[in-house]
Amino acid sequence: MLATDLSAGAFPTESHLDALSAALRLRGYAVLDNMLPPALVDALLADARGGQADFRPAATGRRARRRSNPFVRRDAIAWLEPQASAAQAAYLALMAALRSGLNRRLLLGLFSYEAQFSHYPDGAFYRKHYDAFRGERNRVLSTVLYLNPAWQSDDAGQLRVFDPADDTLELCCLLPHYGRLVVFLSEEFAHEVLPTRRSRYSIAGWFRLNSGALAAVPLSVPL
Ligand code: OGA
Ligand code: MN
Repeated sequence: MLATDLSAGAFPTESHLDALSAALRLRGYAVLDNMLPPALVDALLADARGGQADFRPAATGRRARRRSNPFVRRDAIAWLEPQASAAQAAYLALMAALRSGLNRRLLLGLFSYEAQFSHYPDGAFYRKHYDAFRGERNRVLSTVLYLNPAWQSDDAGQLRVFDPADDTLELCCLLPHYGRLVVFLSEEFAHEVLPTRRSRYSIAGWFRLNSGALAAVPLSVPL
């Protein structure tokens, strides 16, 4: 496949960035369907399925507290690496463009990005959680890209997002449709992956704050 196929479609354009920033300012999250080049989504799925990614059981917690907990999550994960394939390099480059475009529009101070493939076998789930470790303010903005062709409602595996004002209230429940990209403020939105009834692939990623800028950034994101 030609590298140009992977970046064709020019996402994110200035108008994509304007719309995404407006949604983040207003609601703190956005759902973008079919915005990425289809060849890129195809190639990422081929990587995930075809051994270009080294899947291991996912763990939760940081450092000494890090352990896998099958009651919390049952997916397997593999970090994206720019040198692993043209597709992974193209996806990370696209996210770098998103980072600088959002930094020009919002005062988020996004500095770096990391992403992992996750595979949820039939029956797997990820219980309700926040992506940001409280008090560390390290993950600012979360992204999830879904890689599942022809997903049906009966296949389940929805991403259930809770209301920041009351995290017992469901805000929306999103099927992991092929090419769907969900973006949300990491510290604001509790979310969970409902048990899937089919093998399910996604790429979860996080924009981090420049740790050197911590002291200079106000505690709540200006919305
Ligand atoms: C995560 C996550 C959501 C999904 O990996 O932190 O919430 O829908 N993933 O795969
Ligand atoms: Mn999450």
